[in-house]
Amino acid sequence: QVHELNGNVIVPGFIDMHVHLRDPGLEYKETIETGTRSAAAGGFTTIACMPNTKPILDNPELMRYIYDTTNKTGSCKVLPYAAITRGERGEELTDMEALKEAGAVGFTDDGVGVQSGGMMRSAMERAKALGLPIVIHAEDESLSGKGCMNEGDVSKRLGLPGIPGVAESVHVARDALLAELTGVHLHVCHISDASAVDVVRWAKGRGIRITAEVTPHHLLLTDEGIDGTDANWKVNPPLRTEKDRLACLEGLLDGTIDMIATDHAPHSEEEKRRAFQVAPFGFVGLETAFPLLYTELVEKAKLLTLQQLVKKMATAPAEVFNLPGGTVAEGGLADLVVVNLEEERVIDPATFASKGRNTPFAGWRAKGWPVLTICDGKVTFDRTNSK
Ligand code: NCD
Ligand code: ZN
Ligand code: ZN
Ligand code: ZN
Repeated sequence: QVHELNGNVIVPGFIDMHVHLRDPGLEYKETIETGTRSAAAGGFTTIACMPNTKPILDNPELMRYIYDTTNKTGSCKVLPYAAITRGERGEELTDMEALKEAGAVGFTDDGVGVQSGGMMRSAMERAKALGLPIVIHAEDESLSGKGCMNEGDVSKRLGLPGIPGVAESVHVARDALLAELTGVHLHVCHISDASAVDVVRWAKGRGIRITAEVTPHHLLLTDEGIDGTDANWKVNPPLRTEKDRLACLEGLLDGTIDMIATDHAPHSEEEKRRAFQVAPFGFVGLETAFPLLYTELVEKAKLLTLQQLVKKMATAPAEVFNLPGGTVAEGGLADLVVVNLEEERVIDPATFASKGRNTPFAGWRAKGWPVLTICDGKVTFDRTNSK
């Protein structure tokens, strides 16, 4: 499914099942217009957006707002996840049936937070009845506390409060077992910790309906890069150790981790200039994901082939979430991206279509830049005429 055009390759449009668009309410960080333009520039034709907006995406009107605004101003398809609960850290589950009718593609606690097992079980039972997935951020906040980076040697050296890997793996284990009990499809966001990869592998072996994603930054970076001052290195889950990074790579290669998702999380420059401990968590990722992974994992490390990378960024998410795309949709119009594998550029956040500039990858050299993106048969990004 990789074709050639003038020395460029043509691959299926990328699908990112984890994006924070910040719209409505946090438009100073990103809008549907700028976020989807960023997606198209990165070769993405479908993205799923997270509900931690203002207000929280917890009702059908807001699902319709996402679809309507995307129709008017969008440069790719946007699939909204609804919050599991009403409001932020709500005590009451959302009206899942009405949300499904309005186009929610799953229910998540990402950026919203559900801690009690009983509530998660109820959400899973309802989602299962509706045939929709539960998508978990997977963080036991009673274990992560006030941490701002991975708990380990580096956090100790810097004197910063840490988030232990078990805050993630304990939560994944609990929810995997609840998924076994309820039969729901459980999707685990941004896996970052070695023990969490092991739990997912174990759960798959048990026949639990569990899938998982990993971000480019957890595949490429570790906490060794953190100096305790630059909040462009602060993300949740945190960058962990080399052992964890290698475990994520191994999980991606052996099929434990199904797909790559960016967790694109734009913040303002002012917010990211704050002290490391108080700045918000998150990196932008849509415009750098493919070039970074192609350059580092395909070209340099030769851990993946181009075909395998495309599978993790397009075909696998389409299969797991039952989406058209990942190929030319049957009876539909093409979702494609033309990529120049030879052109090398230096990552410069000033050039991003996203409002967010918050990336730890500024200054990295990468190859594999999209030159043309086609979504539903329409050109959504085109720099074939620029030098
Ligand atoms: C996300 C955000 O900024 O909304 N931040 C992050 O570091 N990933 C929330 C999240 O995905 O947990
Ligand atoms: Zn998250
Ligand atoms: Zn760990
Ligand atoms: Zn997120």
